[in-house]
Amino acid sequence: MTALEPRPISAAADIGAFAYFEGTVVPIGEANVSIATHTFNYGTAVFEGIRAYRQADGSSAILFAHEHYARLLRNARLLRASVPESADDLVEITRDLLRRNAHDGDAYIRPLVYKSARSIRVKLTGLDDRVGIFTIPLGDYLPTGGIRVTVSAWQRVSDNAIPARGKISGSYVNAAFAAEDAHAAGYDDAILLTGDGHLAEASAANLFVVRGREVATPPLTDDVLAGITRSAILQIARDAGLDVAERRIDRSELYLADEVFLTGTGVQVAPISSIDERPVGTGDFAISLDIQRRYFAAVRGHDERYANWLTSI
Ligand SMILES: Cc1ncc(COP(=O)(O)O)c(C=O)c1O
Repeated sequence: MTALEPRPISAAADIGAFAYFEGTVVPIGEANVSIATHTFNYGTAVFEGIRAYRQADGSSAILFAHEHYARLLRNARLLRASVPESADDLVEITRDLLRRNAHDGDAYIRPLVYKSARSIRVKLTGLDDRVGIFTIPLGDYLPTGGIRVTVSAWQRVSDNAIPARGKISGSYVNAAFAAEDAHAAGYDDAILLTGDGHLAEASAANLFVVRGREVATPPLTDDVLAGITRSAILQIARDAGLDVAERRIDRSELYLADEVFLTGTGVQVAPISSIDERPVGTGDFAISLDIQRRYFAAVRGHDERYANWLTSI
């Protein structure tokens, strides 16, 4: 298998010309916050990562637009944020932004609900909640043809510390610690364990372990984000006649698995070729690649069964 070249998240120069900021669409140069902004100081935001895919007919469609905005608004409640925009409003605003920004090819959409008040008080309420959205062009975030990962010495942040399911900006320092050390040691990504040593997820992706016909992923109660791609892959695996399980997974199962792969809006479906220098299974990735093929067909509008995953722009 040939690994695709990883394409890093774009430099600022590629960022879409318009952003949604303080309740209106503005040129990107005007979408700036003060150094004293609460979220800038304390990480008190929730965010999403959404993709828009170029379709076979040349149009663009947003993948799981409503699901992402529903999750964003649910997670905003963790931060006691009140957001006047509904999920439907945010989908419409995003469609409008993508039309204006007219990226050439696939795009990535980054919405945030953040505390815009200029305040050094460590608290959650009375801090002027706002929504911001910007877009960038984005290809493959990680190679999709077999990645090398390591099990991190950093522990996944627990639900009683900063809930991983919240997609809270500040909690991504935990992911950054793990990803940074993995990259420095020559790996593509890190797998984090829960406090009691079970598999949680990768730095920005959910984890699946394949053994025989069983495709298993850690339960939502093991400090993972309730990934929207994770749900989609569970559905695809069921539709492909595989046995799916959401269950607690031991670390040693990684080393005994036939296949292991990551899923997420960014990584899409990324088979893992080795974990801590141990090759995964026989390296044929038959099930992972079949699921990856079905996923790409769905997101590009080639499979009618999944047409309701897409919102045209
Ligand atoms: C920590 C973490 N886990 C899992 C995922 C995958 O979630 P989704 O499939 O909703 O993009 C992400 C984001 O992409 C993430 O940041």
